Amino acid sequence: MKLKVYRYQEGMEYPEYDSFEVEREPGLTVLGALLQIQEQLDDSLSFRYSCRGAVCGTCAMLINKVPALACRTQIEPLLKGDLQVSLFPYPGAEETVPWDAKKEVLIEPLPHMAVIKDLMVDMDKFFEYYHFIQPVFKPSDINPEKERLMDPQDVKKLEEYTSCILCAACFGACPVEGENPEYLGPAALAKLYRFHIDPREEDTSRLKIADIPPGWWACDSIGNCLRVCPKKVPPIKAINLAREELNEKK
Ligand code: SF4
Ligand code: FES
Repeated sequence: MKLKVYRYQEGMEYPEYDSFEVEREPGLTVLGALLQIQEQLDDSLSFRYSCRGAVCGTCAMLINKVPALACRTQIEPLLKGDLQVSLFPYPGAEETVPWDAKKEVLIEPLPHMAVIKDLMVDMDKFFEYYHFIQPVFKPSDINPEKERLMDPQDVKKLEEYTSCILCAACFGACPVEGENPEYLGPAALAKLYRFHIDPREEDTSRLKIADIPPGWWACDSIGNCLRVCPKKVPPIKAINLAREELNEKK
């Protein structure tokens, strides 16, 4: 079984693609296959990973043109076509090299971020937007005697957004991000909304942080973000609710 892998390093005019023959074994993940390549075939291949359990968010990459976690994507179902995700076309995932999806897996870096080397991208822009929305809990009472109690219904609402692992798969899959690099992006906006609806928060003006053209208003409600999110976070829902609330106040 072949892996067709994007290769780039500083100084190259254009990226190249290398094909590697990997041993096919039950349960093998894309990350497992990349580690096989690194250990046995080419130790210069660069990619990021840490937890290997879909928790740290560092192994997101473009797998058969879909942003996904390498540690959670198994090769067998991928070759059988069982993991197909249909996405709205977007710049960044357009056709690059031909590949036979039944026999090989195409591995590329996440779109919309500069490539540092091979599958490693520069995440600075993604985290700049994340910090822009001030992802810091601002409680109303500083030192409660006991824990801050919450209504279970409120906890449920928050939980839709708290599971984000900042993998940037949504950022890489967003057609708007491809056309407007200033757009704060799905993950940052979903996180901002999560703090806005937290009843323990003191700051009631949080929505205004993204009340700017590249904020809430830039989204085209296409939905690639939800389709690729490994944690099923619904940024579009947050964005639409934030827009409704801001419109009501205008
Ligand atoms: S919202 Fe989902 S896809 Fe986007 S960064 Fe968070 S976990 Fe990843
Ligand atoms: S290695 Fe941590 S999410 Fe894949």
